[in-house]
Amino acid sequence: MTEVVKRERRGVVAIVTIDSPPVNALSAAVRRGILDNVTAAVADPEVQAIVLTCAGRTFIAGADITEFGKPPQPPALNDVIAALENSPKPTIAAIHGTALGGGLEVALGCHFRVAVKDARLGLPEVKLGLLPGAGGTQRLPRAVGVELAVKVILGGDPIKAPEAAQHGLVDEIVDELVPGAEAFAHKVLAEKRPLRRLRDDDSKIAAARADRSIFTNAVAAMTKKTRGLEAPFACADAIAAGLDYPFDEALKKEREGFLKLVVSEQSKAQRYAFFAEREAAKIDGVPESTKPRPVARAAIIGAGTMGGGIAMSFANAGIPVTLIETGEEQLKRGLGIMQKNYEATAARGGIPADAPAKRMALIDGKVGLEHVKDADLIIEAVFETMAVKKEVFTAIDAYAKPGAVLASNTSYLNIDEIAATTKRPQDVVGMHFFSPANVMKLCEIVRGAKTAPDALMTAVSVAKKIAKVPVVVGVCDGFVGNRMLAARSKQAEKLLFEGALPQQVDGVVTKFGMPMGPFAMGDLAGLDIGWRSRKDRGIKSEIADALCEAGRFGQKTGKGYYKYEQGSRAPLPDPEVETLIDQTLAKLGLKRRAIDDQEILERMVYPMINEGARILEEHIAARPSDIDVVWIYGYGWPVYRGGPMHYADSVGLKHIAERLALYAKQTNDPSLEPAPLLARLAAEGKTFASLAQPNKAAA
Ligand code: 3HC
Ligand code: NAI
Repeated sequence: MTEVVKRERRGVVAIVTIDSPPVNALSAAVRRGILDNVTAAVADPEVQAIVLTCAGRTFIAGADITEFGKPPQPPALNDVIAALENSPKPTIAAIHGTALGGGLEVALGCHFRVAVKDARLGLPEVKLGLLPGAGGTQRLPRAVGVELAVKVILGGDPIKAPEAAQHGLVDEIVDELVPGAEAFAHKVLAEKRPLRRLRDDDSKIAAARADRSIFTNAVAAMTKKTRGLEAPFACADAIAAGLDYPFDEALKKEREGFLKLVVSEQSKAQRYAFFAEREAAKIDGVPESTKPRPVARAAIIGAGTMGGGIAMSFANAGIPVTLIETGEEQLKRGLGIMQKNYEATAARGGIPADAPAKRMALIDGKVGLEHVKDADLIIEAVFETMAVKKEVFTAIDAYAKPGAVLASNTSYLNIDEIAATTKRPQDVVGMHFFSPANVMKLCEIVRGAKTAPDALMTAVSVAKKIAKVPVVVGVCDGFVGNRMLAARSKQAEKLLFEGALPQQVDGVVTKFGMPMGPFAMGDLAGLDIGWRSRKDRGIKSEIADALCEAGRFGQKTGKGYYKYEQGSRAPLPDPEVETLIDQTLAKLGLKRRAIDDQEILERMVYPMINEGARILEEHIAARPSDIDVVWIYGYGWPVYRGGPMHYADSVGLKHIAERLALYAKQTNDPSLEPAPLLARLAAEGKTFASLAQPNKAAA
């Protein structure tokens, strides 16, 4: 076995270096290596100070998540940290990259911390459904005070080294990592600085001990939006224990809390989602040597809802964009909305005050498709009509430089048909963003039949650069996300015909953890869009049609499936809608029946799972976990339920297949018959996860 922790002596300073790629996670071997080397350095009479640092791209990124759920192996992380804290010689953590989770807890066990300027420090355990389980909830408040500690621990986002230095978490910012830490060690020795054991220093928690509201207010601010999540509250309890009990007792309570969470369904789902996201970045059938094409400038066509948001995402990442419209007026309108959007974010403190001007300066508005000529990547976001898309792609083909990647943001249309209008179908790909595009993280990358591997990789790599989560999908109507959504919408609508009300259906869906139910979502998008499209296709949907005939187009008219008070987006149940539903059903000779919440939940979720199974059979998605990533990042599926396919596995496929078969019969709907793949797995007692390569979080 290679040595994962090494020690060298530079004069009187021992440098202990962890070298365990990719992220120096605290595996049993790393824990053992740190403990042994620190113990040896303490015993070495030549050594007067100990620097703990990491090789590679980052300081320790946390506990080794793959070890969770397996029998614990010694030494325990708390023992490693105690060795650093109890060392009679100064211990100094030298931080670069990210000191996260157990990594920051190790650094907090050191007497001092130095960091390079762009290092980040955080306790992201909450995002894995956990709490910091090796003293983080006790030492961080003692290092930075309770208010900031609550923000960091309950929010899970890291802070940058300069901010950490301001709050006393970092003692010094250094230019060069190890030489800087060594110089700092000499300073500590020369000045005979007292060794700061955070466990013994209650000065920064004294205020919150005297006035509990400091803590409760901070927690209230951080838990406003934690729909359904358990971990933030467990984190708060662990911090509170530090206010109520002496250090060792509070540490014990923290540990108990951690052990409870680590076996919880929520944390298992959140760890699964962590690995699912990373797995999605691995693309089948693309040779490893494939390099993405360089993208120095992008062009976005259409400055509407989506084009504007996509352009903002590029500007946010510092990539210059040409934004193209059909006329000056449309362009002005689009740019105006973006400007306002940025200003509102700056006013809220979300971005620096000078960011709106800087980012808008990266967006060059133009009229006319000839302006795509300088772009390395062109993303079309014009109206969702095949004829318009074809017209635009024919023009792009004429003007774009050779090798440019041509992408469409279409929600449903066939990328191969669009590609066929160009002389370079190998350069055409789908990049399907989600609304609002500057906020939502998902980008479905649609691989056409002729898409070249490097064009595909370009789309994937650019999506990552602009902070999106790319998932590669195949061509079909609606790709992964919208195709599954359509299966749900169909059932939602049918439930109204059978006797449910919009608020009942939406209530069940939001209680399950989705941010919005199908009817509130319809009101937000605008009911007139579907109405027009149904009229074009000669299709009827009597309840939705009746709403539109009554001028109820959704939020934009203040009335839809719900009513909305002036200036409010909060959906309010409307007795007029119930009357309208009753009248429509009476006309059709249908009777309402009482439908219980369990049936509603099953009919909202199981048909999506069934469609997911078809999507896998057709190889539209490479693995079940990709589908889960789509739903978590594109539609706000509750991460603590791990995505629809993971949820299906947790419920049991046999049960789901049986219920679907029952509903197929009960509602005379053959689309609800279990998909062959679902039926097979159910019969074999298997899970969707059994189809994928072993997921690291499965343990
Ligand atoms: N344990 C095991 N594997 C890990 C890991 C961890 N803590 N963190 C990252 N990895 C793996 C990833 O799965 C990935 O593996 P792969 O290449 O086989 O897919 C590889 O390391 C590289 O990771 P990324 O692709 O995410 O690399 P980035 O450079 O984009 O990001 C990072 C690096 C910011 C460190 C990011 O990986 C990250 O956020 N990691 C998780 C950090 C975390 O949650 N730490 C807390 C763990 S819980 C804990 O510490 C409990 C303690 O309180 C007791
Ligand atoms: P939108 O109607 O808000 O914007 C479209 C814009 O394209 C308009 O400003 C229009 O002037 C412009 N345009 C039309 N033809 C053009 C041309 N030839 N050259 C330059 N500009 C032209 O539409 P939206 O909602 O932004 O949708 C755009 C695309 O994104 C559609 O394909 C849609 O399906 C897709 N999409 C929409 C989502 C949404 O929630 N609105 C979500 C994901 C994808």
